[in-house]
Amino acid sequence: MGRLRGLCLVPFGFLLFFSSAFIGVPGALAWSKEGHVITCQIAQALLEPEALEAVHHLLPDYVNGNLSALCVWPDQIRHWFRYRWTSPLHFIDTPDNACSFQYSRDCHDSHGVEDMCVAGAVKNFTSQLMHYKEGASDQRYNMTEALLFLSHFMGDIHQPMHVGFTTDEGGNTIELRWFRHKSNLHHVWDREIILTALADYYDKDASLLLQDIERNYTDGIWADDSSWKHCDDIPQCVNNWAKESIQIACKWGYEGVKPGTTLADDYFDSRMPFVMKRIAQGGIRLAMILNKVFADSEEGSATVT
Ligand SMILES: *[C@@H]1O[C@H](CO)[C@@H](O)[C@H](O)[C@H]1NC(C)=O
Ligand SMILES: *[C@@H]1O[C@H](CO)[C@@H](O)[C@H](O)[C@H]1NC(C)=O
Ligand SMILES: *[C@@H]1O[C@H](CO)[C@@H](O)[C@H](O)[C@H]1NC(C)=O
Ligand SMILES: *[C@@H]1O[C@H](CO)[C@@H](O)[C@H](O)[C@H]1NC(C)=O
Ligand SMILES: [Zn+2]
Repeated sequence: MGRLRGLCLVPFGFLLFFSSAFIGVPGALAWSKEGHVITCQIAQALLEPEALEAVHHLLPDYVNGNLSALCVWPDQIRHWFRYRWTSPLHFIDTPDNACSFQYSRDCHDSHGVEDMCVAGAVKNFTSQLMHYKEGASDQRYNMTEALLFLSHFMGDIHQPMHVGFTTDEGGNTIELRWFRHKSNLHHVWDREIILTALADYYDKDASLLLQDIERNYTDGIWADDSSWKHCDDIPQCVNNWAKESIQIACKWGYEGVKPGTTLADDYFDSRMPFVMKRIAQGGIRLAMILNKVFADSEEGSATVT
């Protein structure tokens, strides 16, 4: 999450100060952190022992094995010179009003470089992690970065407005009001709906929201959706997840929204279930991929091209 260009406003010295490693950045920068943190918490709770061990091994010591503590890292570094290449990897721009995703047509950056979109990134970092079991001899990839990028981009690909229309930049240029304050359509789906849900139903406590999501897929409204956990062909599944997003974006994101409008209770009540379901799917599917790539047995490792 986090297509906004707002990071540029941060004083340069501040960024230099923080540029040495993974260091927590205060609220203003990590503006979309809730969705990513919950996605990664869901995933981590579903890891099998081998995957959990690999994740612990790859994370820097100071997070004490807590993956969600670094799931917003890719949003924090995307404007740094060294990582500018990662900027197009957070989203997909599809043709206006097409309401569909085709990898060969849509997965490229604004210069037309192929694979540079969130679907390409999920495939890329999944296949890099497949090499983890080959051991430290493989110096081609930084496995820690691959884990953090994959974990973050699995959140982004499930955020419907991250697979949006080209002209309005996934709703970023559609300015409107969320209840009484100014916002834009992209941000409504990145964060506003989650914050309003936290305030209205969860006493502003994200751990209560996490518990509610976990309850809803263990024995609640999503308990029968076990298909979320399965994927035989990762590249194909990744394309499907992007398609799901643009379809929700069309039907529920853009639908009936004009620039300058005010979105309030009706929009919130009808869209919140989609936001929560997408967060749950992102977390469950991230766990599925991590369990596959770090599995002990060979049968668990699918091929990704
Ligand atoms: C892990 O990190 C997240 C995000 O910083 C935090 O909300 C959560 O409480 C942490 N969990 C544990 C068990 O420390
Ligand atoms: C894949 O990752 C490598 C770095 O490990 C990067 O150079 C390349 O641009 C990435 N491609 C995509 C589509 O993510
Ligand atoms: C991998 O990337 C992390 C974060 O950028 C960095 O701190 C670490 O030193 C890198 N590891 C190697 C072996 O380069
Ligand atoms: C969980 O399911 C209940 C209905 O049983 C629903 O009211 C609630 O909003 C759901 N919570 C989330 C986070 O989706
Ligand atoms: Zn992002």
